Amino acid sequence: MKIRNICCIGAGYVGGPTMSVLAQKNPHIKVTVVDINKDKIAEWNSEDLDNLPIYEPGLKEIVQEARGRNLFFSTDIDKAIDEAEMIFMSVNTPTKTYGKGKGMAADLKYVELSARQIARASTSNKIIVEKSTLPVRTAQAIKNILDNTGNGVKFQVLSNPEFLAEGTSIQDL
Ligand SMILES: NC(=O)c1ccc[n+]([C@@H]2O[C@H](COP(=O)([O-])OP(=O)(O)OC[C@H]3O[C@@H](n4cnc5c(N)ncnc54)[C@H](O)[C@@H]3O)[C@@H](O)[C@H]2O)c1
Repeated sequence: MKIRNICCIGAGYVGGPTMSVLAQKNPHIKVTVVDINKDKIAEWNSEDLDNLPIYEPGLKEIVQEARGRNLFFSTDIDKAIDEAEMIFMSVNTPTKTYGKGKGMAADLKYVELSARQIARASTSNKIIVEKSTLPVRTAQAIKNILDNTGNGVKFQVLSNPEFLAEGTSIQDL
């Protein structure tokens, strides 16, 4: 499968900088970063680059170069999912505040919700990349969600753990 179109679900600390660098280095690939938070997407799209939702040294220059060329920020999640051959899941995984593992384990509800949305919105085969920090075997849980929709689309799930550090993310990427 030739990758021409990438989507990233989650325009936060990981998704925003990672996809900006990926788009800058790969001008032939369209990269669309989506989020349910409309204000955050508006900030990523703001004319004044000092209003980006995240400050990282070097980030605004990269956004200036790639945004509108092959880097896009959008709230149209279903469209970006369906157009992409590869989807990064970079949603937040806060510590659980309830039930088993309370105060320690990662709450996977946002990961599960976006897996359901990918399953619902996809009409072609896709590679899904776990970019959130997730417990071992979550890829299998994501695959179970994706495979049980019955719409015949095939998914492969890869794990690509993120080690970026806030403050040096552009240099590290
Ligand atoms: N921030 C770091 O330095 C860092 C480093 C390594 C790993 N991580 C891990 O990377 C993952 C993402 O972290 P982050 O810091 O980018 O989080 P973040 O809170 O900055 O961003 C996550 C974004 O995902 C969006 N989101 C949640 N559910 C969604 C959905 N269903 N559809 C669309 N958007 C949705 C949220 O609105 C939010 O903007 C976490 O698992 C975190 O533990 C973070």
